[in-house]
Amino acid sequence: MEKVVSGIRPTGNLHLGNYFGAVKSFVAMQDQYDCMFFIADWHSLTTHPKPENIISSARTILAEYLACGIDPKKAPIYVQSDVKETLELYLYLNMNMYMGELERVTTFKEKARQQPDNVNAGLLTYPTLMAADILQHRAHKVPVGKDQEQNMEMARTCARRFNHIYGEEFFPEPQNYYFSDKAVKIPGLDGSGKMGKSEGNCIYLRDDDKTITKKVMKAVTDAGPQSPNSERPQIIENLFTFLKIVSAPDTYQYFDEKWNDCTLRYGDLKKQIAADLCALVGPIRERINEYSANTDLLDKIAREGAEVARESAAATLREVRRIIGFRV
Ligand code: TRP
Repeated sequence: MEKVVSGIRPTGNLHLGNYFGAVKSFVAMQDQYDCMFFIADWHSLTTHPKPENIISSARTILAEYLACGIDPKKAPIYVQSDVKETLELYLYLNMNMYMGELERVTTFKEKARQQPDNVNAGLLTYPTLMAADILQHRAHKVPVGKDQEQNMEMARTCARRFNHIYGEEFFPEPQNYYFSDKAVKIPGLDGSGKMGKSEGNCIYLRDDDKTITKKVMKAVTDAGPQSPNSERPQIIENLFTFLKIVSAPDTYQYFDEKWNDCTLRYGDLKKQIAADLCALVGPIRERINEYSANTDLLDKIAREGAEVARESAAATLREVRRIIGFRV
């Protein structure tokens, strides 16, 4: 079975955009592939997080992924820093990567612009660490967002170069698996194109019903349909996108007809979306709270995940050491 690996940055809480994007495809993939997921806490060190936040951020995101349906029996989930084999491969791969090509990576250039006082070497070699995450399991597919395209290109370069230098087809070239091609895009309810943390327009899986309802009711609208069967402006189409995602098909049809005969009241539409959204998020939120309250269970799941990951990585590293010429 094809191997799939993906890393999750432990940056805050999951919102609906994440849920209908990365999270849902991870959950779907765990039934089709030999999957492993991990929380990229080493990568987060590039911004120097506080020591007291490291473990709790990892637990937060772990609880949320489990609540969304990642089943650790199907897809082991581990914390990156628990699998130290990664570092050895990171070192080897770095020997074959060149300053120039690392400096040209757009995410590096962007980060260097954002944090000019902290352009550290870890930032520069971020793609190599990511390549080590992937290649240590000799993964075939990596579910990522479009923003990871260049990092994935670097991971393939690492694989290809290693194979070429040692004349052995050892690492498969990992392929991008874009979940965004399959997922529905969640629009922002503030009139902006998408829901995102930097846009500040997120509905979080941890939001309670009152918060969700308030956010939906605040969605921007216009004066209403002016003539029968007219095309919907983007901000209104955004609401219908929500409706399509969270409500039953006949509910969508009902409001679509109301739009078409100009009898739609946005208040009713928003109330419907809010109610259906609460029904969707409610059980997830409850599971998040249950997992979050059970840190022993979270730690046990992470520990078991790390065992599987270490075994997989150690097997790769034994071969890598032999290929490079070290004692195994
Ligand atoms: N760079 C990825 C992101 O920003 C996170 C990540 C780290 C990752 N290592 C990975 C993703 C390995 C896929 C495979 O989202």
